[in-house]
Amino acid sequence: MKKALFLLAIVSILSCTNDLTETQKKEYIAKGKEIAQATMKNLGSNLMKQMKAGGTLTAIPFCNKSAYPLTEAMEKQYNVSIKRTALKLRNPKNSPNEAEEKILNEYLAKIKNGEKLTPIVQKEQDNKIHFYTPIKLQKKCVACHGVLNKQVTSKTDSILKSLYPNDKATGFKPNDLRGIWSITFE
Ligand code: HEC
Repeated sequence: MKKALFLLAIVSILSCTNDLTETQKKEYIAKGKEIAQATMKNLGSNLMKQMKAGGTLTAIPFCNKSAYPLTEAMEKQYNVSIKRTALKLRNPKNSPNEAEEKILNEYLAKIKNGEKLTPIVQKEQDNKIHFYTPIKLQKKCVACHGVLNKQVTSKTDSILKSLYPNDKATGFKPNDLRGIWSITFE
């Protein structure tokens, strides 16, 4: 009897971590995509304004100061936590946690196998619903994330290194996996 109860407890704990219905999954994926796109648009349009105004010299300090406050405004608007993370980081504050690192590696493995990257939604041990979606590098990103001394000029690199001495986030080509959005529904 005790053993049966114990097994029941284990089964219910396991099912608890994965008890989203297909309909719920679809809803959270739609919502997650909407939030990721809106945040990307907000960061991107502000960044491009700065690029037009003063190139990387103006846009990098802007990113450094404003990426967090802009993201926080979106978190309040949607009542979620929003994080941008990657394996090759610029700002160490954006380091992935264990679950995010796993997702990033899964996406890399999929790329290797020629598979399509799709958003992921799952309930995790914290009992919260987590949404992940890839961030692909675009042409407009290469001035700050492209190949050193090619798209990233030495002047840009010195500005980057002054703010991020351990910058690992260069060397990317358009369409490379730059990182992921990690959104947690509260
Ligand atoms: C003007 C230079 C610049 C451009 C252009 C730029 N970035 Fe960044 N990027 C930065 C800086 C600076 C940071 C660090 C921000 C911070 O301190 O949080 C950063 C951080 C990131 C991060 C967070 C992970 C990390 O490494 O810290 C991602 C993801 C990212 N950029 C993707 C992109 C994508 C995708 C584009 C194009 C749509 C892009 N960036 C364009 C300068 C730039």
